[in-house]
Amino acid sequence: MSIEIGSIKTKNSVFLAPMSGITDLPFRKLAHRYGAGLVVSEMVASEDLVRQRLGVVTRAAGADEISPLAVQLAGREAYWMAEGAKLAEAGGAAIVDINMGCPARQVTTGLSGSALMRDLDHAVGIIDAVVKAVKVPVTLKMRLGWDEDSVNAPELAYRAEQSGVQMVTVHGRTRNQFYKGRANWRAISAVKDTVSIPVIANGDAATAEQARQMREQAGVDGVMIGRGAYGRPWLCGEIAQSFGEKGAQRPTLEEFATLVREHYEDMLSHYGSELGGRCARKHLGWYLETMADMGWAKNIDVKFWRGRLCRENDPSIVLKLISQLFQQATGQEAA
Ligand SMILES: Cc1cc2nc3c(=O)[nH]c(=O)nc-3n(C[C@H](O)[C@H](O)[C@H](O)COP(=O)(O)O)c2cc1C
Repeated sequence: MSIEIGSIKTKNSVFLAPMSGITDLPFRKLAHRYGAGLVVSEMVASEDLVRQRLGVVTRAAGADEISPLAVQLAGREAYWMAEGAKLAEAGGAAIVDINMGCPARQVTTGLSGSALMRDLDHAVGIIDAVVKAVKVPVTLKMRLGWDEDSVNAPELAYRAEQSGVQMVTVHGRTRNQFYKGRANWRAISAVKDTVSIPVIANGDAATAEQARQMREQAGVDGVMIGRGAYGRPWLCGEIAQSFGEKGAQRPTLEEFATLVREHYEDMLSHYGSELGGRCARKHLGWYLETMADMGWAKNIDVKFWRGRLCRENDPSIVLKLISQLFQQATGQEAA
């Protein structure tokens, strides 16, 4: 099922969550290619974007490769958020998403992210400013509330809709839960009951079956997948397919080998070889875990390969190691 976000129709209803340090352009390109209905940039601090601080602009990039491009902004001042939104739009963003869900202390002590859920008048002031600043649709990502005594996601969603927000995503935890406990999918249904714009549920769904349960319990239009996609950039597409929507198959081992190599090379060209090589390590570690989970690691010693791949500093050697890894995994070379 396609989700309508203003004039934009998504490919399906399974979206990739924004994750700082993970859903950079190389990862989003893969998830997009493998059928995610929508991919959202890592959060971009609005003031940093406006001041063109190093590294920030690349976080919001992707206009040539990803369509629709959704850029997420974080910030606490309406002025910077509006200016940031204008820049994102000028840079090709087709959707501007506002972050009111991030629980990190360095974000909430700056009164951004989920701290905005403690002061809805201020939050709505920001939303109004962003909606007025751009022509593209504005969406909002939030948690259930600040803590269990202040679950105000339905009220914020209602006010956001009145202000012109075109879709809300709710992570089924409060800010004070951080990532502990389980996401409460049923609690998200109160948001769905309150607004008529599309509502997307998020939190703890890492398989097609969990995504189906989340969608059912929350009664929502779509789902958003975060950590479950570590080492599986195809997961959103695979879940969409399981929902009977346009998505993608999970890759074969041979396709996976190509994917891993391409991802690594793309990291090197996106960040430069030194930083790219370092940032790619976590992905290589997750890819090895995925191989073990998928039964692709029968011929390889995962622990050994993790050490080899993640400790090697020379990218050209890492690329050779990746080839060797898959030769072993596919049984083309003795272990
Ligand atoms: C490493 C990491 C970085 C994240 N960065 C962002 C972010 O930049 N913006 C945002 O709205 N949420 C961010 N989140 C929250 C996710 O988008 C998502 O709401 C959360 O992980 C719950 O979904 P999941 O259980 O499917 O991972 C981040 C989460 C993680 C684990």
